[in-house]
Amino acid sequence: MQIKKAEYLISSPSLGQCPTADRPEFAFIGRSNVGKSSLINLLCNREKLAKTSATPGKTQLINHFEIVSASAGNAKEKKWYLVDLPGYGFAKVSQNQRKSWTKMIEEYLRKRENLVNVFVLIDSRLPPQKIDIQFINQLGEWEVPFSLVFTKSDKNTQKDTAKNIKYFMFELLKTWESAPPYFVTSTVKKTGRKEILAHIEELIETMGK
Ligand code: GTP
Ligand code: MG
Repeated sequence: MQIKKAEYLISSPSLGQCPTADRPEFAFIGRSNVGKSSLINLLCNREKLAKTSATPGKTQLINHFEIVSASAGNAKEKKWYLVDLPGYGFAKVSQNQRKSWTKMIEEYLRKRENLVNVFVLIDSRLPPQKIDIQFINQLGEWEVPFSLVFTKSDKNTQKDTAKNIKYFMFELLKTWESAPPYFVTSTVKKTGRKEILAHIEELIETMGK
């Protein structure tokens, strides 16, 4: 899949203000600072499309990006939305901010009609974190389809990354019957891009059938 166009569209404080749900949508979420915005820039091949920052908690709204993609062997271009969601688990926010985050995200994830898949980003350097497992279990209760992305793989040896992924899946299989699809990425080494785009392409194509 080739990205023909990637443009920032709008930042919305609630589901009601999101753009019309007229095309497939893919959202990216994960702990604050896990690398969501960086990954979106890697996927779109645009360095400054989504704002990245060394300060956690930068993304506070539902951010829509308009994408036009093309696939090999298919002349028809596809339009879809990519969404950068604010991170969870940011310690320095007030109880009230946390509540409004939860409300906004829950409403968006449960009610956004065109949402095809949520990519949950996990820091590949860490052993399974309770907050990530809880969030994934919550998605299960809400019946929201998701895949996992293990980020920042350049910061660890391949062996340690594989060990953390295995441990993470082991924890998930305590509550899930099967393991979800997963990807390993590094925005420094620019790896994992092709695989995630192929997955998005496949999901868009199976939708049309
Ligand atoms: P919030 O929007 O604040 O929740 O953060 P985010 O999840 O969007 O993270 P962001 O993309 O802003 O990245 C956070 C920090 O991690 C930045 O300093 C990035 O440069 C760094 N980072 C992101 N991805 C990678 C990666 O694959 N490898 C390395 N080494 N650093 C990364
Ligand atoms: Mg961000």
